[in-house]
Amino acid sequence: MVHISEREEQLPDLVIERLLELMTDHPEVLSLGPGEPDFSLPKPLVSEIKKLANQSNHYSTPGGLLELREAICKKLKKENDIKANPENVVVTSGSQEALLLATATTLDVSEEILLPNPSYMAYLPTVEIFNAVPKFFQLREENAFEPNPDEIKKQINERKTKVLLINSPANPTGNVIRKKVLEELADLAVEYDLAIFSDEAYEYILYDDVKHISIGSLNGMSDRVFTFQTMSKSYAMCGFRLGYVAAPEQAAKGIKKMHVEASICAPTISQKLAVKALQLPKKYVHGMVKEYQQRRDVIVPRLNELGLMTPVPKGAFYAFSNISHISKNSKKFAFDLLKKQKVAAVPGIDFGSAGEGYMRFSFATKLSIIEKALNRLEKFISQTHR
Ligand SMILES: Cc1ncc(COP(=O)(O)O)c(C=O)c1O
Repeated sequence: MVHISEREEQLPDLVIERLLELMTDHPEVLSLGPGEPDFSLPKPLVSEIKKLANQSNHYSTPGGLLELREAICKKLKKENDIKANPENVVVTSGSQEALLLATATTLDVSEEILLPNPSYMAYLPTVEIFNAVPKFFQLREENAFEPNPDEIKKQINERKTKVLLINSPANPTGNVIRKKVLEELADLAVEYDLAIFSDEAYEYILYDDVKHISIGSLNGMSDRVFTFQTMSKSYAMCGFRLGYVAAPEQAAKGIKKMHVEASICAPTISQKLAVKALQLPKKYVHGMVKEYQQRRDVIVPRLNELGLMTPVPKGAFYAFSNISHISKNSKKFAFDLLKKQKVAAVPGIDFGSAGEGYMRFSFATKLSIIEKALNRLEKFISQTHR
């Protein structure tokens, strides 16, 4: 038998793998699980792929094609008000790889990173892989799941804490952090000399005229903020695995070194396609957001009617519902819902201990499926929990 490291044994089961398998192997299951757009690739990109295919059989420069990094810098300036040079940008296989490599670059064993709880399920294992230490700050429903700088401050150890991670718009809660709070977080970072990881995977998926503000655009932040963005959600390009980080130059160099050891470069064809995607008019992403908003406006009121208190998400494509008066065990709730009514959704506990008592229902799924799934959910609640 091969030896398996303790590190591997401590990693959680892969929820994403279970969900993807479920969707392909069990078409009778209605899934409100997915964390990816259900839309097709924007049409102009489809026609580019064939042309790009026979120009993409070589590795690219490890940090990413210069043409793409220049396009990213232009985008960061125009859309996010962040000043970056190509030397600050590392293009990776999805922003997930960038998060992993930035963690490896900034944290030594036993150094600490502040993580939101609940939050995207990859953060904790990413930190644990490198034997760094997660320090959680709780996001509370009564504060619309927005980080509270005073609570964060209490978790800081002046010697050990090196990084604060924020995610806005947030998975799984749909919170969008307000400018005033970002400013307080920026002050905290300066006071305690912290780096900030700003995960902006859902930067364009916003509702009700809410604006996304990149913390990297605030005064004095350019030498401490790592901005993680991705083509996955904005351009329905998850499968192309193309993301990037804009980081202080020394750190970007480190991330690039790690990236070479991990994968040499992001897929060249995806990089070339990303150059094209960044030139697209915004109508493609706005069209998707309009549909998400229609779905949100169906799913959230209905969940509330069913007694699952659900704050209205301001961004991303998830409804995060409080089930605590029905069940204190979200894993069991999710499992029973799947078994009895063939509806898949993600238990809140998968997003951290503060996610217990919640379920995440994704609306990156056709409205007709959402409506059917909600009918089944209603049956489930009335048969099992009343
Ligand atoms: C908050 C958040 N960050 C990062 C990612 C990773 O996305 P990708 O690696 O496709 O860029 C996801 C994926 O669901 C996410 O929800």
